[in-house]
Amino acid sequence: MTHLRLTAKTRDVSTVDPEAVEPEASDELPRWFGHFFLYDQIGEGGMARIYLARSQTELGAERQVAVKQILPMLSRSESFGRKLIEEAKLCSQLSHGNIVQVMDLGREDGLLYIAMEYVEGFDLRELLRRCSRGRISLPIEFSLAVVIETLRALDFAHRLGDESGKPLGIVHRDVSPSNILLSFEGEVKLCDFGIARALSAEPSADDEPAGKSGYMSPEAALGKELDGRADVFCVGIILWELLAGRRLYKAPKGSAPSLERAALAEIPSLPIRGLAQETQLHEIVMRSLSRAVDERYASAHDMLEDLERYAEEAELAASPLRFRDWLNEHFGRDIVAQRRARERHARELLDSLPPRSPGRTSSPSFPPLDQPLGVVSAPATAGGFATHSKTASAPAAAAVAVLLLAVASLAYIFV
Ligand SMILES: Nc1ncnc2c1ncn2[C@@H]1O[C@H](COP(=O)(O)OP(=O)(O)O)[C@@H](O)[C@H]1O
Ligand SMILES: [Mg+2]
Repeated sequence: MTHLRLTAKTRDVSTVDPEAVEPEASDELPRWFGHFFLYDQIGEGGMARIYLARSQTELGAERQVAVKQILPMLSRSESFGRKLIEEAKLCSQLSHGNIVQVMDLGREDGLLYIAMEYVEGFDLRELLRRCSRGRISLPIEFSLAVVIETLRALDFAHRLGDESGKPLGIVHRDVSPSNILLSFEGEVKLCDFGIARALSAEPSADDEPAGKSGYMSPEAALGKELDGRADVFCVGIILWELLAGRRLYKAPKGSAPSLERAALAEIPSLPIRGLAQETQLHEIVMRSLSRAVDERYASAHDMLEDLERYAEEAELAASPLRFRDWLNEHFGRDIVAQRRARERHARELLDSLPPRSPGRTSSPSFPPLDQPLGVVSAPATAGGFATHSKTASAPAAAAVAVLLLAVASLAYIFV
């Protein structure tokens, strides 16, 4: 079943005359963008800005969505637009609890956009930064859970076939912490399927492989053909970093690790933490990080199977409920309270406006919201160490749990 809506304007995106459209990326908020009321900027990457928005249909139905507005330079590119649509059509078939659902792809004011399910929380990169800044340890069971859920998303995507069962050959190509979204409900959702492939079709890419060099398989760095095992390697990097508590390919501040490093794929052994059956866990990581594709896990499914078995046997299987509680205890409340206040403000603004006239795309005359938008301040709860315990029902059990926690949770140095 596909949920993707290609707007009428999008279907001819590849034939848009780039000279005729001069896209402008206004950054005033709130504003209308097609039928989206953008009221908060929640992210910015190399190719797009992400906004929190309410989508409004002609009949007045409303829902909250994340709108990824592609930057003007890329929006103007015919080849990128064509490839993005091709990929989005393929990936719109990805309906899975661990994958951010894409709902709409279109062009508005000359800018390409993707509207998708909004995941209220933050991405893994941000979580690690916050842990690092607040000196908060991420319990190992949650690290494993994040990787296991990411593998579920990849396993589903890699196996997906057409009506006749023929595999569609979907490869994510940019599995990295910023594309792993964590909701305050404890869910893990992988986003940006297909974007890297569209980017690699861009002539200005100068034959550079798409994806982040810090999270790249050797075959991707060498510009080779990729299959699902390239994604397995990227998951391996993330798991290695979560266990080591540091970046695998560290680069000088402000620069990305070199492609040569990614191509060499030299993986240091992991430090011993005293985890249950730790050798087994390290073997899983190292197998996923084999430079030779044939020596790696043959699929996300195979890695998932081994990692799940390990988590169960080592009694490190986490529940989404405990993850939710932990996230909210350490980070969630302030952020959610801020978001709610902005939503209320946006709601009031929307209600006070006359009905949107068809074709209206922007409204520069909105009064500004009270607070500057887009930057979420650090949580006041930061500080101290994780207090999570699975078995703390009696004082003795609590003491054991604290001891276990000392080895089973790691301090992070991601900045
Ligand atoms: N559907 C979404 N819901 C909530 N936040 C999102 C969503 N999509 C992206 N984001 C946020 O926006 C950030 C920037 O996204 P993106 O432009 O893809 O940059 P990057 O290249 O760093 O992944 C993400 O890291 C994430 O925090
Ligand atoms: Mg992204």
